[in-house]
Amino acid sequence: MAIKLVTIDEIADFDGQLVKLRGWLYNKRSSGKLHFLQVRDGTGIIQCVVFNGDVSFEEFQLAGRITQEAAIVVHGKVKRDDRSSAGFELAVTTIEVINESAPYPISPKEHGVAFLMENRHLWLRSSRPHAVLKIRNCVIESCREFMANEKFTLVDAPILTPAACEGTTTLFETDYFGETAYLTQSGQLYMEAAAMAFGKVYCLGPTFRAEKSKTRRHLTEFWMMEPEMAYYDLDATINVAEDLVYYIVQSVLQRSKSELELLERDIAPLEAIAKPFPQISYNQAVVNIKNKGNDIEWGADLGADDETVLSEEFSSPVFVHRYPKEIKAFYMKGDPENDKVSLCVDMLAPEGYGEIIGGGQREDDLNVLEERIAEHKLPKEAFEWYLDLRRYGSVPHSGFGMGIERVVGWLCGIRHVRETIPFPRTLQRLYP
Ligand code: 4AD
Ligand code: MG
Repeated sequence: MAIKLVTIDEIADFDGQLVKLRGWLYNKRSSGKLHFLQVRDGTGIIQCVVFNGDVSFEEFQLAGRITQEAAIVVHGKVKRDDRSSAGFELAVTTIEVINESAPYPISPKEHGVAFLMENRHLWLRSSRPHAVLKIRNCVIESCREFMANEKFTLVDAPILTPAACEGTTTLFETDYFGETAYLTQSGQLYMEAAAMAFGKVYCLGPTFRAEKSKTRRHLTEFWMMEPEMAYYDLDATINVAEDLVYYIVQSVLQRSKSELELLERDIAPLEAIAKPFPQISYNQAVVNIKNKGNDIEWGADLGADDETVLSEEFSSPVFVHRYPKEIKAFYMKGDPENDKVSLCVDMLAPEGYGEIIGGGQREDDLNVLEERIAEHKLPKEAFEWYLDLRRYGSVPHSGFGMGIERVVGWLCGIRHVRETIPFPRTLQRLYP
């Protein structure tokens, strides 16, 4: 009878049965007649016990010789074991080495982050990065689910673009058959076009910014989800952002329990998150931040430290709305009730994780938008198509961008975004 091939996450369904596992050796210890092999297969880690009475002499010798990360296939009987984290272990009947492993650079001892990042292609196999990237997968999956439930249409934005969306200082420039092209900073402008065609749309993809400063929150390549909605004003877009983030938090709490536990994430602050999220104007935020003793003047953008002291007042994410026009992008609509501020909004995560969402209502008047493009010294020719959206049936519309890495960092309790993306790109890193 052929032995059933299973993965470690399915093992509980095979209690008492003979199964086949394919994986890699994660760790090993031996004592006399026994070798305890920790085997991982991508879905989990399980202890496989090799007893010299159960396998051939050669196989027992082999089990004693194999080294970390050798690729192996084992057959064995599934046994309940309440002491192990998997709840089960495997009593091995046969073991086969598919390929040996050269001495593995990442041992269970502590390594520095720089060393681990140099070996990111291997580090992905370790339990911590594995857990973080599983949570990232859960975040993206729940984003897509939420958007589908809310009847948004996915419209992909281009990566190569002729113009800047978020300021000209962070553009990655490249030659495009003799013309200048830039890697996209945001899919927003294209989503505005798509919203006029489909109503409610979103994109989810990589975006690029030549961030020249070293911070814990900035990558040069990061993933953003950007919904855009026709006929939505600022308040309506705030509601979408609130429902989306709440949905993601609940999904991760439900589906990523074991990963959160492995990361030793205190989940109490995540469980405490409740709707509606608090909202505060930029004006009020500046007063509160000053009262906390930080040095900030009206007109300045909030620094990381300002965001931290502000978010500490709240247990749920907080919306900060109506920032000064001067510090915001050209496409932001001015507030008709106060010409110094824009109809924009940021969402700050609790526990000092800072801005995770930026967005707002877009300028929908052709003449005002033309003025703004001139004020920002942007090349009008490159924006003619964008201006067309205001020439042909312009309507109020709004949207936002959510940084996937910032959200994953917050949910995992990881302060540096470089660990929240499989292969981070930063000022100092283009390898591996
Ligand atoms: O606030 P930002 O710059 O907004 C936009 O790009 C808008 N065009 C989005 C829109 O309205 N459709 O960026 C949005 C989010 C930030 O809140 C942050 O979470 C993330 O993208 N982000 C970064 N994440 C990692 N590294 C960077 N360098 C980031 N820059 C922005
Ligand atoms: Mg922003």
